[in-house]
Amino acid sequence: MVTRVATVAFEGIEARAVDVQVQIIPGAVHFAVVGLPDKAVAESRERVRGALIASGLALPAKRITVNLAPADLPKEGSHYDLPIALGVMAAIGAIPADALAGYCVLGELALDGAITAVNGVLPAAIAAGARGLGLICPGPCGPEAAWAGGDLDVLAPRSLIQLANHFKGSQVMARPEPAIAAPTGTLPDLADIKGQEGAKRALEIAASGGHNLLFNGPPGAGKSMLAARLPSILPPLSPRELLDISMIQSVAGELRGGALSSRRPFRQPHHSASMAALIGGGLGAKPGEASLAHGGVLFLDELPEFTPQVLDSLRQPMETGEVMIARANHRVVYPARFQLVAAMNPCRCGQALEPGYACRRGPNERCVAQYGARISGPLLDRIDLRIEVPAVTAADLILPPPAEGSREAAARVAAARTAQGQRYAARGLPASTTNATCPATLIEEVASPDAEGTALIRTAAESLRLSARGFHRTLRVARTLADLDGEPRVRRMHLAEALSYRGRSERVAA
Ligand SMILES: Nc1ncnc2c1ncn2[C@@H]1O[C@H](COP(=O)(O)OP(=O)(O)O)[C@@H](O)[C@H]1O
Ligand SMILES: [Mg+2]
Repeated sequence: MVTRVATVAFEGIEARAVDVQVQIIPGAVHFAVVGLPDKAVAESRERVRGALIASGLALPAKRITVNLAPADLPKEGSHYDLPIALGVMAAIGAIPADALAGYCVLGELALDGAITAVNGVLPAAIAAGARGLGLICPGPCGPEAAWAGGDLDVLAPRSLIQLANHFKGSQVMARPEPAIAAPTGTLPDLADIKGQEGAKRALEIAASGGHNLLFNGPPGAGKSMLAARLPSILPPLSPRELLDISMIQSVAGELRGGALSSRRPFRQPHHSASMAALIGGGLGAKPGEASLAHGGVLFLDELPEFTPQVLDSLRQPMETGEVMIARANHRVVYPARFQLVAAMNPCRCGQALEPGYACRRGPNERCVAQYGARISGPLLDRIDLRIEVPAVTAADLILPPPAEGSREAAARVAAARTAQGQRYAARGLPASTTNATCPATLIEEVASPDAEGTALIRTAAESLRLSARGFHRTLRVARTLADLDGEPRVRRMHLAEALSYRGRSERVAA
């Protein structure tokens, strides 16, 4: 007799169906797990044995074979403990044989029989629902599983005994409630920043259209401070985005207490970050910062200090919106559609652009060129808005705080995003599409300028020698500026402002 329990294996954020087959036959005492298990899965035997004994169930003195099918799908992680243990329990009659039929099961076991949290419960719950099954997951992950839909049958036991009692009917468990994390603390506010009106405007444009942004300026100008205030003006998440983002966090083990966060991700990896940390991969093919920033912001402070190869590995996800990690015998794909915000000093001394400052290492231009060379042209090319942030003057600093803060800016950003969402949804694209992510052919259509604007972009394209990508990028930013103004048509002034961010940036990049 073979007992079967449904579970999953993760490939990226996809939960693939895996069948746990348990067979107990007379023979020499033996307990084996087969079917391409990794080390954590192989160790599962010991945890299952310990947890069953602690729950008052001894393993029969027989030959127990556990097969994880299909055998060619790699099995990673510790979430196979629970389906294996339940398969054994059903095989020895400790729970009714048909009790598990309608469920997909995942969870790790402690030696005392407790069921402990695992990663990936949300995608597993969604996959279970799609297969018409319910879900049995660890107690702490119940609130996460409950997000998969109101009609999904979720059992979230804290121990094997609790689950066995539920199946016997002596102590029936309630369905867990979906939880949303309470916002932790208030976000830093734009009102803290004095002066820097140009940079604040750029931040608002970036937030509105989802554009990539680079701040370039001397140390202490407030670049890090500006970037840290971006989350306070980003638009709220739609329910669809919330689920997409949470799936990645679930697989990465970043959902605290099973509660989803309604805030857009804002990831700020240190410049010493490795390729695996930024892009993903390494042990267990975990998603990296680029994927954890999906739907939100990836902030790279001190951009030229990052390893050039690590930075260049971002080019592919910036183009395709996903990260592909090659493993020994398979490939893993994670979503990674992030908005890049970066800050840098103009040179190693940091002051090259300040009037009257002479760099210690020879001519200012050389100092700037050497430092700037650490960032490749193709990466810079993907940054729509490149802004110089001058040092704050004492006159600015003694000003009273600005009357306008993040609340006002956030309202304008939200209105501009709503306009984009409606426009792109009407053309069959997801409502989360922004001017930065909409297809190039479509931006030509939706951002086609009026007659004066057309004349301007024609002369500018010649004098600035705009490339095709540069042309589209200018249109994208101009479209966002028009959306901020609530204008259906892109006008000359929008193009002029969009070109100004580009014109200045070309000098910085040079
Ligand atoms: N525009 C500003 N308004 C108020 N304080 C500022 C401003 N710019 C800089 N500061 C102060 O200077 C500190 C350093 O700013 P920071 O953002 O770290 O500079 P950067 O990243 O450009 O080197 C901030 O913590 C803040 O106290
Ligand atoms: Mg800084």
